[in-house]
Amino acid sequence: MKLADNKATLSFSNGSPSVDLPVYHGSVGPDVVDIRKLYAQTGMFTYDPGFLSTAACQSAITYIDGDKGELLYRGYPIEQLATNCDYLETCHLLLYGELPNTDQKKDFVHRVTNHTMVNEQMQFFLRGFRRDAHPMAIMTGLVGALSAFYHDSTDINNPEHREIAAIRLIAKMPTLVAMAYKYTVGQPYMYPKNNLSYAGNFLHMMFATPCEEYKVNPVLERALDRIFILHADHEQNASTSTVRLCGSSGTNPFAAIAAGVACLWGPAHGGANEAALNMLGDIQKNGGVEKIGDFIKQVKDKNSGVKLMGFGHRVYKNYDPRAKLMQETCKEVLQEMGLENDPLFKLAMALEKIALEDDYFVSRKLYPNVDFYSGIVQRAIGIPVPLFTAIFALARTVGWIAQLNEMIGDPEYKIGRPRQLFTGSTPRDVKPMAQR
Ligand code: ACO
Repeated sequence: MKLADNKATLSFSNGSPSVDLPVYHGSVGPDVVDIRKLYAQTGMFTYDPGFLSTAACQSAITYIDGDKGELLYRGYPIEQLATNCDYLETCHLLLYGELPNTDQKKDFVHRVTNHTMVNEQMQFFLRGFRRDAHPMAIMTGLVGALSAFYHDSTDINNPEHREIAAIRLIAKMPTLVAMAYKYTVGQPYMYPKNNLSYAGNFLHMMFATPCEEYKVNPVLERALDRIFILHADHEQNASTSTVRLCGSSGTNPFAAIAAGVACLWGPAHGGANEAALNMLGDIQKNGGVEKIGDFIKQVKDKNSGVKLMGFGHRVYKNYDPRAKLMQETCKEVLQEMGLENDPLFKLAMALEKIALEDDYFVSRKLYPNVDFYSGIVQRAIGIPVPLFTAIFALARTVGWIAQLNEMIGDPEYKIGRPRQLFTGSTPRDVKPMAQR
């Protein structure tokens, strides 16, 4: 970041002396006012619940222009990455800053595929869960448990440990998600097949059984790979900020990523794809396209507590570029599976059209986000709804690690420790029990 020529001056109406605050430029995007010395200079904190105006770090990984509907990983537009690259190339880009050349790709793919198996002991750990446990509950446990298996990569301050933990996490997430699925349906776990692509191997571990040959469908493989690319990183969202905050205490990378998984689970974040599909299912059950009007009425009624899931985004206020790519993939997958007339897809398209013309959504700049269509794609692939968020976690793992590594390598890195505006009781004395 570069110091700007101008500075901000904060003045007070009560006559307290004003203070000058430095302003920095990034390479693109809004400037920031540096308030680090504000407390020392004025005895005041800033107040910004939900981080609406606060940059919590500097980062060179992902850039979003919410007004333009632009998403860049290391400067490359998401549309180009989704069309010209695969997920592991995207992982290389996010982790090391550059797309790999042929040799670098070969080496990276080799390193990742060499780590796809998990310790055999992991399946006994898995058995402790109820069969009907939510996959995200299982994933939070399994990812956290990795730190108990890999003592040689738990020192977050050691770059070699961080590197091997990164490769292990990227390699093992598909294996863990597939194991969580196989466990809930009572089928045997399928070992990874390292001659398959990253997405192909995941499909194999999910849908193959030991009794039959499983052939990976290239259309579904590409669709899944695209889902992984579109979800790989998204700058300082809630789960990524959670990973950074958790990792800032010096905890090990597996524990920090497990915290990210836990945060992602929420319906306002990664759980939205599951919630969006459930919402479409409910509208379908209650009358389908005919009833969209009634549903929209409910959404607009603040007291109903109903939201149009898969719509709206804290940053995108024009459109979510990932939603456009996902809609394309959705059409391809439904065609491949002979589901062009899928009622939920038709319902989603009709709902989107009506919402985009409705003043409530237009005036609030609410557009479909990536999750509006990703659920329909995953369902068509045969992925059960509760697994959607676990697949999001799988894809986002690389972003979390890249951001964690960037934070640890940042000379300005400190333990994250927000302050507060205290509104509770002033000091008071504990009364004896009889007087309370
Ligand atoms: N349906 C109906 N109204 C909405 C929606 C929605 N999906 N999203 C926002 N609004 C309304 C709010 O009620 C508010 O209206 P008001 O100004 O009259 O009070 C206005 O739009 C602004 O919304 P906020 O909640 O202030 O926006 P915020 O940036 O805090 O929230 C969020 C963003 C959480 C994503 C929100 O849009 C939402 O809950 N969407 C549905 C869940 C979802 O799809 N999440 C996925 C996010 S993408 C991801 O994680 C990959």
